[in-house]
Amino acid sequence: MPIKTIIEPFRIKSIEPIRRTTHEERQKLLEAAGYNLFLIASKDILIDLLTDSGTGAMSTEQWAAIMRGDESYAGSPSFERFRNSVQTIFGYRHVIPTHQGRAAERILFNVMCKKGDIVPNNTHFDTTRANCEFVGAEALDLPIPEAREPQRHHPFKGNMDVVRLAETIEHAGAKRIPLVMLTVTNNSGGGQPVSMENIRAVKTICQRHGIPLYIDACRFAENAYFIKLREPGYAGKTPREIAREMFSLADGCTMSAKKDGMANIGGFLCTNDDILAQQEKDLLILTEGFPTYGGLAGRDLDAIAVGLNEALEEDYLNYRIVSTAYLGNHISKEGVPIVQPPGGHAIYLDARAFLPHVPPAKFPGVALACALYVEGGIRAVEIGTLMFGEHATMDLVRLAIPRRVYTQSHIDYVIEVILEVWQKRAQIRGLELTHQAPFLRHFTARFKPAEVEEVKEV
Ligand code: F0G
Repeated sequence: MPIKTIIEPFRIKSIEPIRRTTHEERQKLLEAAGYNLFLIASKDILIDLLTDSGTGAMSTEQWAAIMRGDESYAGSPSFERFRNSVQTIFGYRHVIPTHQGRAAERILFNVMCKKGDIVPNNTHFDTTRANCEFVGAEALDLPIPEAREPQRHHPFKGNMDVVRLAETIEHAGAKRIPLVMLTVTNNSGGGQPVSMENIRAVKTICQRHGIPLYIDACRFAENAYFIKLREPGYAGKTPREIAREMFSLADGCTMSAKKDGMANIGGFLCTNDDILAQQEKDLLILTEGFPTYGGLAGRDLDAIAVGLNEALEEDYLNYRIVSTAYLGNHISKEGVPIVQPPGGHAIYLDARAFLPHVPPAKFPGVALACALYVEGGIRAVEIGTLMFGEHATMDLVRLAIPRRVYTQSHIDYVIEVILEVWQKRAQIRGLELTHQAPFLRHFTARFKPAEVEEVKEV
């Protein structure tokens, strides 16, 4: 019989101790943090699933590359290696390094958008939406209808609704739409992939109207692997070939190398347009740095150059997708409502279904994330009413899995904690805001428990 167990395709060379705290300590820490898990120190977290961004473990080859980093201000060979890796995979003429994804977004929207414009996306991530709105443009989410139903299965739930895209262009006029974006995988929509067929359909519509298509490429390797697993005709192709095909359908991309770049910091912006690239590089110099480093150290560029290739290795991607699904399937089997099917980088709990007695206005996602922390020292993040305000159509709690960091026994522990909270769900109360910032409020908001009268029996 062939061996079926899928293992972590690496061994551990350097360890980082994690600290247990008591239930009582965590309750106090949470109150002191105004019920906002962003405001808790990481030393007080046992398993940190806040984000898969910049939290991955680097490989020996990446650490070796770090030592090769050349810190010259201009013309560093680290940049040559970085550009070479990016161009080989993504295929674009201009590669502009940035310190992380949102810096690429800021530059892109500053150069391409103006007040009154509309930028359609399958679903804008929070920083993408904020950067788009900051220049006065409207960030329009056009996911397929299935994406709005958390428990509905669909192989490519990250797809864009192409009918609504065509209608939007028809209605607003192509002049008001400077670009269309596709986020692969669709993070805010549950880490769900976008099919090649959908990318092609979006491209066809864009091309008809002369609108450029940009890919938010943060989790491009995971998306490519889902295409290989689920889309007819791609089983025999490598993730690299699939990624190349995805990017060949777009005019450029933004990237946070903190995700599928397997690095702790970094990002880039790509385009095939010479004029735009010049404007983008001019802006880059103003706030990020010279175009051969863009706010990064030479060693960061080298770590990304290696990481992008490691993210496309099939053994790694198989482990990645299977281990995320392991968490999702184990809790869903016990009745815990999650976004189905499991995503690439994260499992999303459906907080509205988990806590039907807590209305969206009382932040069920935040309340559930807090309960996971108190129960087991796990840190997750709300993606819902707190993050998106009135744009939120769901209240989700994301358990993002850092790359190559936790083992299966860590995940078994997470499963146990979630099931314990599931048993106690009727006791969880909603929250009320006591402080909020004018944008990206989830990072600094503070809460107090909602009045007890709000609680109804489940
Ligand atoms: N786009 C997507 C789809 C993202 O998930 C992120 C970051 C960004 C853009 C911005 O990149 O953080 O490097 O500036 N997502 C992180 C997360 C923060 O936790 O999902 P950045």
